[in-house]
Amino acid sequence: MLSQMQRALRIVHSGWKARILTTVPERVKQMRVSRRVFARWMSAAAALAASGRWNPLVAPPNVAAQPVALKDLVPKGWLIGVAINQNQSDGRDGVAVDLVTRQFNAISPENLLKFQSLHPEPDRFTFDAQDRYVAFGLDHGMAVIGHTLVWHSQTPAWVWAATDGGLADRATMLERMRVHIATVVGRYKGKIRGWDVVNEALNDDGTLRDSPWRRGIGDDYIAKAFEFAREADPGAELYYNDYNLATRPAKRAGAIRIIKELQQRGLRIDAVGEQGHWRLESPTTTEIDQTITELRATGVKVMITELDVNLLPPAAPPAPGQPREPAANPYVDGLPDDVQQALARCYANAFRVFLKHRDDMTRVTFWGVSDGDSWLNRGRMNYPLLWDRQRQPKTAFEEVAKVLMAKS
Ligand code: G3I
Repeated sequence: MLSQMQRALRIVHSGWKARILTTVPERVKQMRVSRRVFARWMSAAAALAASGRWNPLVAPPNVAAQPVALKDLVPKGWLIGVAINQNQSDGRDGVAVDLVTRQFNAISPENLLKFQSLHPEPDRFTFDAQDRYVAFGLDHGMAVIGHTLVWHSQTPAWVWAATDGGLADRATMLERMRVHIATVVGRYKGKIRGWDVVNEALNDDGTLRDSPWRRGIGDDYIAKAFEFAREADPGAELYYNDYNLATRPAKRAGAIRIIKELQQRGLRIDAVGEQGHWRLESPTTTEIDQTITELRATGVKVMITELDVNLLPPAAPPAPGQPREPAANPYVDGLPDDVQQALARCYANAFRVFLKHRDDMTRVTFWGVSDGDSWLNRGRMNYPLLWDRQRQPKTAFEEVAKVLMAKS
């Protein structure tokens, strides 16, 4: 016969467990907790709550408060993603792992699947951390994105070098590209949802960037990359990815030329990515709206693939040993509230435009989990994302959540 206390514990157990669990990291949730342990917790929690040192409804500082999840708010079928680093895909950054798996349904690799990270020497591939990245996504039921197969940056010099140290010839460079794509895309066949096949092949005036790929192979290196990627995994989505497509109409026209050329060659391209490394005042919502409309008119879907909003003034790094100009790093002591509000408005306005184009778009990915993780710090204090350095949601998160919740 259950004693009164046991009955009380059972009721309390089920009620409070649900409430407390929102603030409890996943790894704790997996723990099997006996009623005795739970009772001990409850008395400890009650004592803490009574002392005012802990409020069970507010997340402790080392756990992200997550009242709502973006992945539950975006339009059906949309991917809402985040770029993660190796500390996160290896599970070492537990707080970020909680946030990532709670908030997002897609991941991108900030650096792990780049040529340099994967294929440092002609006959050596490195897949350990990369396999863990892919497994991280699949284990959490997320869409796993591949970034990026062919790029002019973070690619080892041997890829483009001839034995005499000059530029490798077309056949040699094509074969190196084919082997790389066949090996990498082949390894993750059926696991990676889609690949940024070619990244940043354009200058801001819409002409093709004079990269070693183009010098060695020719203008059709882009088409060859898409051809090799489709051969390696006919089921994977294939993307062209670039930046400033929303702020440089000539560059956008260049991207549209690339898409149409691939389509004319009968090659698969599923979507085009505008990276979205934006600022408070640029692009405007009209520019974002026009960009999505023009890119969608080619027939491919549109994605925002590396979203962040840079709040710092452009500034060259200080000379070695020289201090940085204070004006170049204005927010070392925190972000003023008016800038916090401006950032929230900027993100909310952008998401309103994305929702207007919900049938034209397939994905929005943030380039980093929280402010402290962002590439935009580079020795300064930047605040470009929706979560702060304590992994707590910022006003920008709340405003984006409101816009998504309000969607008709
Ligand atoms: O891994 C080395 C480490 O061993 C070394 O100790 C350290 C010190 O220099 O460097 C580490 O490599 C850094 C790498 O990030 C990993 O952290 C590189 O120096 C650094 O240049 C690299 O920066 C990445 C950058 O791409 C390189 O271009 C950023 O994290 C990453 O956010 C950024 O992402 C790009 C997208 O791929 C394409 N679009 C633009 C975007 C921002 O630049």
